[in-house]
Amino acid sequence: MTVILGLESSCDDSAVALVDGDRRILAQAVVGQNNAHQPYGGVVPEIAARAHVEILPGMIEQVLADAKMSIHDVDAIAATAGPGLIGGVMVALLAGKGLALAAGKPLLAVNHLEGHALSPRLADPDLGFPYLLLLVSGGHCQLLEVRGVGDYRRLATTIDDAVGEAFDKSAKLLDLTYPGGPAIEELAMQGDPSAVPLPRPLVGSGEPHFSFAGLKSAVQRAVASGERRREDIAASFQQAVVDCLVDRTRLALERSGAPALVVAGGVAANQAIRRALADLAIAEGRRFSVPPGWLCTDNAAMIAWAGAERFAAGMSDALDVPARARWPLDEDAEKVRGAGVKA
Ligand code: KG4
Ligand code: ZN
Repeated sequence: MTVILGLESSCDDSAVALVDGDRRILAQAVVGQNNAHQPYGGVVPEIAARAHVEILPGMIEQVLADAKMSIHDVDAIAATAGPGLIGGVMVALLAGKGLALAAGKPLLAVNHLEGHALSPRLADPDLGFPYLLLLVSGGHCQLLEVRGVGDYRRLATTIDDAVGEAFDKSAKLLDLTYPGGPAIEELAMQGDPSAVPLPRPLVGSGEPHFSFAGLKSAVQRAVASGERRREDIAASFQQAVVDCLVDRTRLALERSGAPALVVAGGVAANQAIRRALADLAIAEGRRFSVPPGWLCTDNAAMIAWAGAERFAAGMSDALDVPARARWPLDEDAEKVRGAGVKA
């Protein structure tokens, strides 16, 4: 049985996992850095990179020990090579290169987004290609047709903020701690989702793109007015996000014809979003799949699994493979009119 070691450090989580070709997670660890970044309300790249350097080697030793394995029992080493905060990306990639070189094992340079994109297949053995993927994380909000390993077509993206970014920025406005998504979800449970009128940017427009900057500004105005309960703002914000995601995904589903709808990325841990998209899939007659919450937020099991899928397809990477801050899954996707630098 093939065993893959996965390494991840592209944002603020250091993660290591051992996964086999039978979808078994032999051992894994994720260590977040929330305390280090909380005073700043967002991830500070320099602090993140230094923390990864300190913690990742010990985690690799521990995960191998937990599985009662040595590096020689591993068939290949999968490390995130981007996209992400470049200082952090380099830590796992260089660790992976060092191990591959020392142990004489193949290296798999994994796109972090491919990790998220294939993670549903780790949890759901019956999920075949193709599927329509709503990828919602701190840095991305995209609709992609996943046609096979390494074969992605982007149908839509955000023209401004990513959806996780909208959660994090709105949480900051509401004086909640970082990361904002779980904090808003919790506060929203005590609020009325119809209490505060908020915009649904791009809902009803002809292309399935997303926009969240205007929603965040509306949250800012609602907070500044001093007339709204914080829990009502949180609930209304979350409802506006749900409405945007459902409307845009419905349009993409109508265009794509893929038999399954899949949601992945950190924001897919949100229960209200999961429920709404499950309902949409049923209404549109598609299969629905979403990984468990721990597999939605950043982890190394998804990187090891993407590595396992690539390894099974006969792929591997040379030791001079670069670390990339930007690395779109669909390199041929057109730049979207009105979009900033995010793709
Ligand atoms: O995939 P991820 O762990 O890291 C990136 O690759 O970006 O996603 C992190 C994002 C953060 O913006 C965080 O606030 C959001 O996912 N998130 C959530 C929830 N849990 C994490 N957003 C909404 N509801 C949640 N329960
Ligand atoms: Zn991620």
